[in-house]
Amino acid sequence: MKIGTALTEGATKALLLGSGELGKELTISLQRYGVEVIAVDRYQHAPAHQVAHRSHVIDMTDTGAVKKLIALEQPDFIIPEIEAIATSALADIEAEGLCTVVPNARAIQLTMNREGIRTLVAEQLKIPTSNYAFAQSFEELQAAVDGGIGYPCFIKPTMSSSGKGQSMVESADQLKAAWDYAKSSGRVDTGKVIVEAKIDFDFEITLLTVRALNKNGEVETHFCEPIGHVQENGDYRESWQPQIMSQASIKSAQDIAFKVTSEIGGLGLFGVELFIKGDDVWFSEVSPRPHDTGMVTMVTQKQNEFELHARAILGLPVDTRLQKAGASAVILGGINAKGVVYEGLAEALAVPDSEIRLFGKPEAFVKRRMGVALAAAESVDEARNKALKAASLVVINPVI
Ligand SMILES: Nc1ncnc2c1ncn2[C@@H]1O[C@H](COP(=O)(O)OP(=O)(O)OP(=O)(O)O)[C@@H](O)[C@H]1O
Ligand SMILES: [Mg+2]
Repeated sequence: MKIGTALTEGATKALLLGSGELGKELTISLQRYGVEVIAVDRYQHAPAHQVAHRSHVIDMTDTGAVKKLIALEQPDFIIPEIEAIATSALADIEAEGLCTVVPNARAIQLTMNREGIRTLVAEQLKIPTSNYAFAQSFEELQAAVDGGIGYPCFIKPTMSSSGKGQSMVESADQLKAAWDYAKSSGRVDTGKVIVEAKIDFDFEITLLTVRALNKNGEVETHFCEPIGHVQENGDYRESWQPQIMSQASIKSAQDIAFKVTSEIGGLGLFGVELFIKGDDVWFSEVSPRPHDTGMVTMVTQKQNEFELHARAILGLPVDTRLQKAGASAVILGGINAKGVVYEGLAEALAVPDSEIRLFGKPEAFVKRRMGVALAAAESVDEARNKALKAASLVVINPVI
């Protein structure tokens, strides 16, 4: 692997589609190797825009706009950070062979739509998942639930993330509202929703899995220690690493992650979301990119998830070793306001072994993630307490 000099003729260029907090950290990791980073988002001054060499604002779901920008920038790597992207543009660009879509265009296509990845994993790879069905009308949904999925169940738009349009339904009288919500709140109305039986898990994990080259140029799969997390309304609030698991369940989790990521292919880091009960493991979904719950690795691992992704993409060796236990707790906006001010940082950082990352988002919303508190400790419990404490001390106020 040769890396050129950023901002010169021979630069190695990476174009990020999506410039949120994960993209910001990835930009920094890539820049440590001298890569020229171009950050793209649908709005100005997104987190990664603030650290990249250049930035652009385009509608990333517009095939023409994506192709035009790629023709202008001619990147070596296109790194999607979000799911809402014109994937057909990526497939065409990959077919031309001029640059690498990370991990590959098919992965982006498969994972942006729950139907693609779920059908592949459950039906082709025969990996355990929740019972599920797709429905194109309320009648079909009702029939699927009555026909075996039962209550409680989850209704989700087939194209959505961060819990948008998703609800848990406990009885028949709630089904219509869940259908209406899924139909109106998905990223794109594909005309379909997925209904999944609720898995009564003990806990859920993200298994960060890295496909990277070894010194012989062969792809090897590496696993990070499992990350446990808490979700509220489909959005993550807290994560910690390592999540203690039985020997049998960790083995199944790694087997599933190996099968799914091998089928997807390409180089990079993946966040494999799994539900665990005793020794049983169910696949939930996979991100072909760093995962929000994986921000905890910024204080726990020798190489955090962004560093691992950057190295894997560049064909460099990786090390997924855990160094210490740690936890993350999100800092939500709490208010709707532009150009907010952050207070209480000194108090938050007085919590021993804590760190705070503020993403610099230009506008706060009540439930928008504006920052994250991280903490390392001797035990996961202690780390969780510290991270929660630090997060709670950061106060977000409107500018007066
Ligand atoms: N079938 C299920 N059984 C039990 N819990 C579920 C099920 N489906 C979803 N959940 C809960 O809802 C959370 C979010 O679901 P999912 O990951 O499918 O949504 P998402 O919108 O893709 O979220 P994100 O983008 O944050 O990963 C899960 O992490 C889990 O806590
Ligand atoms: Mg998820």
